[in-house]
Amino acid sequence: MPPPANHSLPHSLPLTLIVATTPIRVASSTPLKLQDPNDTPTTRLGIGLKGTLPWPRIKADMSFFARVTSRPPTPGTTNAIIMGRKTYDSVPKHLRPLAKRISVVITRDQTGAVKEGVLQELQARKAKMAATAKAKAETDVEKSLDAPADVVPEPITDAIVTPSLDAAIGELDSVYGKEGKLGKIWLIGGAEIYGAALRMDAKEGSEALQRRPVRVVMTNVLRKGAEGEASFECDTFFPLDGMTAQNGWRSASPEEVSEWVGEEVSGEWKKEGDVEVQMVGYERLH
Ligand SMILES: NC(=O)c1ccc[n+]([C@@H]2O[C@H](COP(=O)([O-])OP(=O)(O)OC[C@H]3O[C@@H](n4cnc5c(N)ncnc54)[C@H](OP(=O)(O)O)[C@@H]3O)[C@@H](O)[C@H]2O)c1
Repeated sequence: MPPPANHSLPHSLPLTLIVATTPIRVASSTPLKLQDPNDTPTTRLGIGLKGTLPWPRIKADMSFFARVTSRPPTPGTTNAIIMGRKTYDSVPKHLRPLAKRISVVITRDQTGAVKEGVLQELQARKAKMAATAKAKAETDVEKSLDAPADVVPEPITDAIVTPSLDAAIGELDSVYGKEGKLGKIWLIGGAEIYGAALRMDAKEGSEALQRRPVRVVMTNVLRKGAEGEASFECDTFFPLDGMTAQNGWRSASPEEVSEWVGEEVSGEWKKEGDVEVQMVGYERLH
């Protein structure tokens, strides 16, 4: 498909937070106030523990995340995944930057060390992927000399390092959007970056951030122990305890979420070992 006549990105391109959370019962304020009789327990949405995920590998969620964030909306485009530096560091070294996506790492580091590290890892990853692709191409040619396959442009693997969310969106727009090469924008965490995205004010934000719908694609994770529901220990939480009409959100239908992610999402709970997962979506009302 040829790039659109106007290569600049429409500013209505949604920003979608993708997150897996588990409900944790905590005091409504700080743990120190637990004894306060006016302090009622509430539920927070746990997302992390000690720099990593609170749960052992959940295949259904990891493969959902990989498919959804890497599948471009049109051939010739590549999705961006925006993350905090700590979330980048939490990705296993041999997998980062994640393939077939533009990783955008946000950091306050001004020494250049974070940028240098990410770019070195990008070079190493690209070299490894090129070697794998070359070996595969040679095997494919041997297998099907007389049946050349249709060439579909693959999403690229790239990485940039920026000092803020605003700068991240601006750079994605100006570098990849202008060339018609940017697909969807996913915000993949962690808590600090979700918080920065949710604090964005459509009216006060830069032009690059204005008028973009803000969405959340959430995997709910529940653990079923021998004696019923059990929780995972968490030290990092999603910045909102829930998304309701009262705090300016609406629940999206499974059909809408399916359209956002590019595959069918039923909204049903699915069992995997002792956990159950469910994918749902929300859109900010204003
Ligand atoms: N369940 C999920 O779906 C999910 C998804 C993602 C992450 N996680 C978990 O969440 C945890 C990490 O979250 P986190 O909140 O601790 O860290 P984070 O948001 O991933 O990264 C925080 C870092 O981002 C940079 N940063 C944050 N705000 C910034 C700003 N306004 N301007 C410039 N730079 C900024 C800083 O990097 P520098 O320190 O380099 O300056 C900061 O230390 C881990 O446990 C991870 O496994 C869970």
